[in-house]
Amino acid sequence: MFNLPKDLIKIINQSQRMVVFTGAGISAESGIPTFREAQTGLWAKYDPMQLATPQAFAKNPELVWQWYAWRRKLVQAAQPNAAHLALVDLEASLPDFVLVTQNVDGLHQRAGSKNVIELHGNINRIKCFFDASHVIAEQCYDDNLPSCPVCSANLRPDVVWFGESLPEEALRQAFNAAENCDLCLSIGTSALIYPAAGIPLAAKQAGARVVEINLSPTALSEHTDFTLFGTAAQILPYISATFSS
Ligand code: OAD
Repeated sequence: MFNLPKDLIKIINQSQRMVVFTGAGISAESGIPTFREAQTGLWAKYDPMQLATPQAFAKNPELVWQWYAWRRKLVQAAQPNAAHLALVDLEASLPDFVLVTQNVDGLHQRAGSKNVIELHGNINRIKCFFDASHVIAEQCYDDNLPSCPVCSANLRPDVVWFGESLPEEALRQAFNAAENCDLCLSIGTSALIYPAAGIPLAAKQAGARVVEINLSPTALSEHTDFTLFGTAAQILPYISATFSS
C-alpha cells in the first residue's frame, strides 16, 4: 500500500498535459540492470569508455558487439512490469500524454505505450557504423558481428554512445512536450546525463509541477514539487488508479 499525498492526487487529477520521463530504474523490476547503482549498476562492473563509445567500437567491434548482444538478450527475455503497465493506463486517461525515455530496452512499447520518444535509441535496432542511412533493422538477433550489405562496414546497435549527439528530432519533440506540459513525472533516473536530464527542469521552468519517483534522492530532487520514495512498480499503479477512483 502506498499513500499518495492528497495535494498530489488533486494535481494528478487536474492534469491535462502530462510528460513522463523515465530511466533505467523503471526497468529494474523487469530484471534489467541500471547503470549507476553502486553494486548492481552496469557502469560499476564495466568501463563505458571500452564499451559505449564510437572509439571503443572502432578499436574492438567484436567486444562491443558481444556486450550489446548479451544486453539485448536480457532485454528480449524480460517482460514489462507493473510500472510500465501503469503508464499505459495513464496514457489512456489523459488527453495529452508524452512518454520520454532514456531507456533503450523498448519495454514501454511492448507494454502498450504509444506516444513514446526514445532519446538514447533502441538496443533491438541496428545501423551501419559508416553511414546510418545504409541499413537499419528493427529487430536484431545476431550473436556475431554483422556487416552492412551496402558498404561492408560493421553494423552497430542503434543506441547513443558517449560522445555522440542525441537524435535531433526526438530531442526537439521531447523539449517541446516538456515546455508545454502541466505535470512532469520523472521516474527511475539519476537525472545526471544531459541533455536528457534537462527535460524535467524545462518542464519546471515552464511552470509545470514536477514529481519524482525513485528509491533515493537524485540530482533532480531539490527541484521537484514531490519526491516519492519507493519502487516504480509499487508507486505508479496508485498514480494511474487516481483516474478511476
Ligand atoms: P542510472 O543507473 O543512472 O539511474 C537509475 C536510477 O533508478 C537511480 O536513481 C536508482 O535509484 C533508480 N532506481 C533503481 N531501481 C528503481 C526502481 N525499482 N524504481 C524506481 N527507481 C529505481 O540510470 P539512468 O538515469 O537511466 O545512457 O541513466 C541515464 C543514462 O546514463 C542512460 O540512458 C545511459 C546511461 O549511461 C546511454 O546509454 C546513452
